[in-house]
Amino acid sequence: MKTEEYKAEKTVRTGPVLFSAYKQGSAVKKAVSLTRDDILFELRESKLKGRGGAGFPTSTKWMLSAAAVADKKYIVCNADEGEPGTFKDRVLLLEYPELVFEGMVIAGYTIGAKYGFVYLRGEYSYMLASLNDYLAMMRKENLLGTNIAGKNGFDFDIEIKLGAGAYVCGEETALIESLEGNRGEPRNRPPYPVNRGYLGYPTIVNNVETLASVPHIITKGGSWFCTHGTDKSTGSKLFSVSGDCTKPGVYELPWGTTISELLTIVGAEDTKAVQVGGASGVCLNSEHFGRKLAYEDAATG
Ligand SMILES: Cc1cc2nc3c(=O)[nH]c(=O)nc-3n(C[C@H](O)[C@H](O)[C@H](O)COP(=O)(O)O)c2cc1C
Repeated sequence: MKTEEYKAEKTVRTGPVLFSAYKQGSAVKKAVSLTRDDILFELRESKLKGRGGAGFPTSTKWMLSAAAVADKKYIVCNADEGEPGTFKDRVLLLEYPELVFEGMVIAGYTIGAKYGFVYLRGEYSYMLASLNDYLAMMRKENLLGTNIAGKNGFDFDIEIKLGAGAYVCGEETALIESLEGNRGEPRNRPPYPVNRGYLGYPTIVNNVETLASVPHIITKGGSWFCTHGTDKSTGSKLFSVSGDCTKPGVYELPWGTTISELLTIVGAEDTKAVQVGGASGVCLNSEHFGRKLAYEDAATG
């Protein structure tokens, strides 16, 4: 399947970062022309924080696993998306697989990993075939496989593993246990996955949305990324909106958007309360609607 045919089925979306224009393959091609330190520098400049809930700085996670000395390293994309009311990773995987997979390839290049896994929520098994088709297309276009994008010695491939419906397997160490074929129970930390993860090797676990932000940072720059959002919450956020409103769906908005602005955008009137961050988050009444959706205010994780 050609890239254009795959994209023909895609909904037209617009947004400041993730839903902005992107040419498939451009970030990987640019990344392999850079040094690993250049990439880490750009990531640090972007101040990207993990979108999986904890908001851990992505550049720190990548630096720690890049510095770890080991024969093998792994990249894991956390696509478990188990939080009730959350469905934004589904949109990225279905409509923007190039961003997610290329984010993984760039992570592999940066830390020296040759293999990556997507841990896909069991209920998303319906998208497995199309995602595997996309991976096959990337192999044909030399965006996966050996000597990727003409870079001698840079080999990387991705495999998709299905979860079996356990919420706890979204937690990164339980996820790793599950990937290894064990019961999905969290591990004691330390050691952290960046040092001892999958099969005891250094492993980066990042959320789908975090990885999807990386190609835009590489092509447009860390400082460009910081022009969106707030000082402490740079870039944009995908919001999964459902409930009593006329336009439910997935919206990309800059961090710092207030709850009342979001309610207007989604066509919600006379709202009594909003549940932010899924069932594990907080329930805010109208007194709080002036608050900003940002790590430093109403955090979404
Ligand atoms: C019970 C529990 C469930 C979680 N579920 C998810 C999940 O479905 N997806 C996700 O990306 N992170 C989930 N996390 C957070 C992960 O443990 C981890 O912090 C995240 O994948 C790191 O990625 P990031 O740095 O890109 O945010 C969960 C954490 C806990 C404690």
